[in-house]
Amino acid sequence: MNYRKLGRTDLQLSEITFGAWAIGGWMWGGTDWNEAVKAIKAGYDNGMTSIDTAPIYGHGISEEIVGTVIKDLPRDKVQILTKFGLRWDTKKGEYYFSTTEKSGETLDFYKFSGKEGIIEECERSLKRLGTDYIDLYQVHWYDSTTPISESFEAVERLIEQGKVRFAGVCNYTADQTAIANESVIIASNQVPYSMVNRGIEEDVVPYCINNNMGILAYSPLQRGLLTGKFNENSHFNEGDHRATNKFFEPEFIKRTNTFLERIKPLANDKEVTLGQLVLKWTVLQPGITIALAGARNAEQAKQNAGASSLVLTEEELRFINKELEQL
Ligand SMILES: NC(=O)c1ccc[n+]([C@@H]2O[C@H](COP(=O)([O-])OP(=O)(O)OC[C@H]3O[C@@H](n4cnc5c(N)ncnc54)[C@H](OP(=O)(O)O)[C@@H]3O)[C@@H](O)[C@H]2O)c1
Repeated sequence: MNYRKLGRTDLQLSEITFGAWAIGGWMWGGTDWNEAVKAIKAGYDNGMTSIDTAPIYGHGISEEIVGTVIKDLPRDKVQILTKFGLRWDTKKGEYYFSTTEKSGETLDFYKFSGKEGIIEECERSLKRLGTDYIDLYQVHWYDSTTPISESFEAVERLIEQGKVRFAGVCNYTADQTAIANESVIIASNQVPYSMVNRGIEEDVVPYCINNNMGILAYSPLQRGLLTGKFNENSHFNEGDHRATNKFFEPEFIKRTNTFLERIKPLANDKEVTLGQLVLKWTVLQPGITIALAGARNAEQAKQNAGASSLVLTEEELRFINKELEQL
């Protein structure tokens, strides 16, 4: 596993970092606690020392699973990335969206990054994670009802108290990030990025490169699509958001698979899976510091971690990019 320094901090993250959204179950059709624990452990055993989670993932469950695993690991050898500002337990802030749960109950989600809310969320996260500090504390989504300066002054207090090491943002535009940077050093922006979703290349990537900030690429496998395991007839479990996600529309799956077939000979030559080729391509793109790869079980986590040791030449990257242009 390769490790990379995050922006202007001395935080070293594993090039492939464990993404703990799916193991929370929420929006992914449920979770299996034991499989999830094994997945994180397998990731760690294969060098994935960094783990990204959030309170909203399974409404506390993901952080609790991460806490279960890290209690048996040396704390200074693991990097915990979590978030604040996406709430299911308050109606303060900016309404975001609603879901209907299995029980038939409707849950409303709010983007809320008020000062008191952040302090309260941090205490809860530390408890669920069973730790006394968070390595990277990131705002999950921009909350239009709270001044950005208020949110990051709260994070600065948490840094002074030793509860947080570094501050980060997620899903922020370059302009929003510049405002946050006035209150505290922002280590990184966590944004969606994959072979088939490259919108950040326009302004987020140049901003981060010019300001020496890291980029954590999320959904690099496009939620499993880029492993090549889906087809137009694939079905998802009840509650799995992919059933209605635009990247999983039959036509898009078909087009993506045609592209994957074209780069498969390269994966075969390299004796890697398509997913591994995709992850390595992701971390070799300009400005990208690490890829956050979700995994539901030990096999997936081990495979994803293995992507880091793959070596791709300039010519091989050019070949992939040329094929991508035709997607
Ligand atoms: N800040 C944000 O707003 C935000 C938003 C989204 C994600 N994230 C972060 O980014 C992380 C990764 O993104 P993501 O989970 O959305 O998508 P992803 O990493 O692109 O895809 C993860 C999913 O793909 C499948 N998969 C993973 N590895 C596989 C393998 N080796 N072989 C076959 N299938 C495999 C698994 O689902 P199945 O087995 O069910 O197919 C897994 O849950 C999240 O966990 C989270 O930490 C952050």
